[in-house]
Amino acid sequence: MKVAVLGAAGGIGQALSLLLKTNLPAGSELSLYDVAPVVPGVAVDLSHIPTDVKVKGFGKDDLAAALTGCDIVLIPAGVPRKPGMDRSDLFNINAGIVKNLVEGIAENCPNACTCIITNPVNTTVAIAAETLKAKGVYDKNKLFGVTTLDVIRAETFVAELKDKDPANIHVPVIGGHSGTTILPLLSQVEGVEFSDEEISSLTHRIQNAGTEVVEAKAGGGSATLSMGQAAARFCLSLAKAMQGEDVIEYTYVQTDDSEDAAFFSHPVRLGKNGVEEILPYGELSAFEQKAKEDMLEGLRGDIKLGVDFVNG
Ligand code: 2OP
Repeated sequence: MKVAVLGAAGGIGQALSLLLKTNLPAGSELSLYDVAPVVPGVAVDLSHIPTDVKVKGFGKDDLAAALTGCDIVLIPAGVPRKPGMDRSDLFNINAGIVKNLVEGIAENCPNACTCIITNPVNTTVAIAAETLKAKGVYDKNKLFGVTTLDVIRAETFVAELKDKDPANIHVPVIGGHSGTTILPLLSQVEGVEFSDEEISSLTHRIQNAGTEVVEAKAGGGSATLSMGQAAARFCLSLAKAMQGEDVIEYTYVQTDDSEDAAFFSHPVRLGKNGVEEILPYGELSAFEQKAKEDMLEGLRGDIKLGVDFVNG
């Protein structure tokens, strides 16, 4: 398994790279790419950890070499939010970064699975899709928006509230990865009951958890460690699935479902070639159904922004 992290020297990139160095299957290779000059140092630093995962650093002019032969590419590159910013405020800078990196994927490892972390994810995944289409190599089964952080946050907050072990709590989260487009399905959590007040406040907390971190970091960026953990979980699940294990993760994928949006987070059965099967997300409560209807227009707008960015 060869995995590349594009933006490996940033806050998310370094946490993610550490987790991959210590958890990828034996014999894997890890390519660390960044425009920041510290990236060879990050690679040397990680290379001293005794696991059977080879790490190599690639600087700004070496994108092709970093990507050649990759099975999975993760993209956390770009700038994070500061207090008062919405994820969509990052569009102007991050859209071009994602387009450029995805062009590199199209040219050097067109069969790789691409996992987008760079915000605004609702839009950058559409940018990646259109960029791959323009290069004639788009496979909708191999493009993912990483929304695992919403799932792990939801599980943590529910476990805290109900005094349970988070390892035993499973919370489906569908939709997108920004504000109200993040839709936790608390009605489907097994083994716990919520009051209407709890549903309303928990849903709000899960939707605003990224902002909670941005405000706590007070200008120092957004979530990096929990995002690194979430992205590593997603990458390791995908790597297992590509090696034949049966794995399901919630992720933002092209759905071809005109009822929702062109991209929507669903439970997805992963397999050798990426998406094996997009599973239905099941029945929604009246609260969830209304929350979904209220956010769909915004999500579709976020997606259109990405499509228009590439196609003019
Ligand atoms: C978050 O949800 C960084 O988008 C990421 O915190």
